[in-house]
Parts: sequence; structure tokens; C-alpha cells
Amino acid sequence: MIRISQLAASVKPSATIAAGTKARQLKAAGIKVWDFSLGEPDFNTPKHICDAAEKAALGGQTHYTPTSGTAEVKAAICRWYKSYHGYECAPENVIVSNGAKHSIHNALAAIVGPGDEVIIPTPYWVSYSDLVSMTGATPVLVNTTPESGFKMSPAQLKAAITPKTRILMLNSPCNPTGTVYSRAELEALVDTLLANSEAAILSDEIYEQLTYGDAKPTCVATLRPALKDRIITISGASKSYAMTGWRMGWAVAPAAVVKAMDTIQSQETSCPSSVSQAALIAALDGPQECVAEMRKEFAARRELTYKLLDAIPGAKVVKSDGAFYAFFDVSAVFGKSFGGKVVTDSLTYCNTLLEQAYVNLVPGVAFGAEGFVRMSYATNAATIEGGLAKLAEWMASGK
Ligand SMILES: Cc1ncc(COP(=O)(O)O)c(C=O)c1O
Repeated sequence: MIRISQLAASVKPSATIAAGTKARQLKAAGIKVWDFSLGEPDFNTPKHICDAAEKAALGGQTHYTPTSGTAEVKAAICRWYKSYHGYECAPENVIVSNGAKHSIHNALAAIVGPGDEVIIPTPYWVSYSDLVSMTGATPVLVNTTPESGFKMSPAQLKAAITPKTRILMLNSPCNPTGTVYSRAELEALVDTLLANSEAAILSDEIYEQLTYGDAKPTCVATLRPALKDRIITISGASKSYAMTGWRMGWAVAPAAVVKAMDTIQSQETSCPSSVSQAALIAALDGPQECVAEMRKEFAARRELTYKLLDAIPGAKVVKSDGAFYAFFDVSAVFGKSFGGKVVTDSLTYCNTLLEQAYVNLVPGVAFGAEGFVRMSYATNAATIEGGLAKLAEWMASGK
């Protein structure tokens, strides 16, 4: 018997990936599943991006690239930040990885270790706390509430800071809540951190091109000049350009941090995929209408989702303006029996719902928010209508 390492045994599997796997198994058995678990656009990657990849592959861009990405892809990322956010960065500040998750892992591994603390507001994206724990550092969770729109206040941040704090993680727009902090709210958090700690900020802005109505994304790095040496900005192509399978994410950080991440990456993966880097250049430099079209579609699905959820007794939605998730409180039905099974928490709620009504949601406990569930509306209107009709029927069956 090969003994499994302490590290592997201590990591929880990603709850969103686990929920997706369960639904796939039911689908393979011929069952129609209303799957709202996965955090990825249902659109295929736009054609001009695929064409660029094909051209690169046929043109011989099939070799290892520099560890942190080609000069061309880094230049494209810098151009994109300048035009989208007015943020000036240089190629030496950029590292491209195999997805934003990989960038976050490398950034954490480059900066923190045992004895260090990383502040994470909850609800948080499933992977944050495990990625922090894998470095040996300690996640310090700050609970936010529906009443504040799931926003951490400067006072809460101040209270969480200790001499061991090394990183504050921010994620706006947020997965799972969709919360978008305003520029002023982020300025207040940044000022609190700068006044009370030497810690860095890791700002995950991967949903920055997916905000709705009047909500605007903020590139936190642009807020204060003092952040220049203290911030790691994370983003990627997965969500905005429907490129989840290409695994293109990046970090923009002080050159010394990029260098440390580069060293780690050189031993992990040698470099990101050469063909995907060519595709990323086409995504960032090419026509942006595809992003606008997908955003418009997500906005319509968001309206539909909220309208239908509002009509379901027992589901209390906290509305938000970004990403493609609805996050709602279902604790009103905890203690009720569904088809002879008593639902006691978000996990038993989701398991019973999937088993009995074939509707797949992700339990809030995975995001540090018991009582809630997450529904991804990155799926077509017919699925949203059909799945929420099923959910409504099942919720009504609770006794
Ligand atoms: C907040 C957040 N950050 C990062 C990622 C990772 O994205 P990637 O596909 O680039 O690894 C996700 C994906 O779900 C996410 O929701």
C-alpha cells in the first residue's frame, strides 16, 4: 500500500468540481439533470480565437515557451490593462500560468508559508482556503452578511489584521455571491490595509468583464500609488472569453514576486501551453464584440433567474451585479422532510435535491456560507426555466 501524503490528505476536493462530476454520472446513466453547478460559460470560444490557435499550431508554435509566457503574450496583457483599466504595467510584471487558479497557487507559494496569515472575506471562492492551507499558511476568514451585500467593512478588516497578516485576498466581482464592490468601498479597504499592515493584496479580478447595470469593475492596483509594490492582480481568459479549457490565467505583480513565481512555475509546468498563449493574444487584441454579446446574454439570464427565484417560497436571494451566479438562502426549509429525507444543512439540501429532482446546485458550506446555495446561470434560458420549475416543485413538497 502506498501511503498518501499529509498534504494530499489535508486538501479538500473542489466542491464545484465534485458537484459537476456527480451530475455527469447521472447524465451518463441517461437521466436529465438540470445542472447549475459549474462556473463556466456555456458558449464555445469565439472563432477568431480558435483560428489564431490553429494558425499557431500549424505554424510551428508547438515548442516550450519562456516559463512565464512569450514576450508577445505579455505585451498583449499590458496593452489590455492600459486600454481597459488605464493601468500601466511592464512585461517584467507579468506571468502567464495554466489558468488563474495556477497563478493564485504560485503567488501564494511565492509569498506565504507556515506562520503567515491570509485574510479571506467569506463567502469565498472554494479554492482560496485550500490553496492557502497547501502553503502551510493560515486562512483567516472574515464573515460578511447578506445585509451588507456580502461586503467586508474596513472595521472588519482592521479587526482581522495581526502582525502575522501577509496577504489580503479580494475578489470583486465575487464568486459565489456576484458582489461587486464600488471603487469607493475598495479605496476604503485599501486605505485601511495600508494604514495598519505591511501585508500585500491579492486581487482576483477574473470576472472583471462581467458586470451588469450600473456596476463597474475596479482594478484595485490603480487605486493608490502605494500599492505598486504591494499588489498581485490575478485574472484570466476563462470567464470573459469562454476559454476555460485553454487554461490561460495570469498575474501582474512586482518584478521580484513575478521572478519567484517564475522559478516555482519552471519546476512545476515549464511553461503555459504555446498554442493557448497564441489564442490569448487573439482574445485580448482582437474584436471585443464577442465579450459584449456574452455579457448581454448573461445579463438577460440573470434577470430571468432572479424573477423565477423570487417566486419560490423558502428561497431568499441576495441580488448582485457581477459574475454569473445567484446566491440564495435556503435555510428556511432546513428541518423539513423531502420524500422521507430530512434536510438539515446546505450539503444535505443539495444532495437530496439532486437525488430527487435532478437539480444540481453547490452547497454554500463549500464557500464558507452555511445556509446558502450557489446557482450558476451560465446556461441557456430553457434550462433555467425548466430547472427552476423543478426546484419550485421540489421546495413545495417539503413537509
Ligand atoms: C474567483 C475565481 N478565481 C479564479 C478562477 C480560476 O479560473 P481559471 O479557469 O483561470 O483557473 C475561478 C474559476 O472558477 C474563479 O471563480
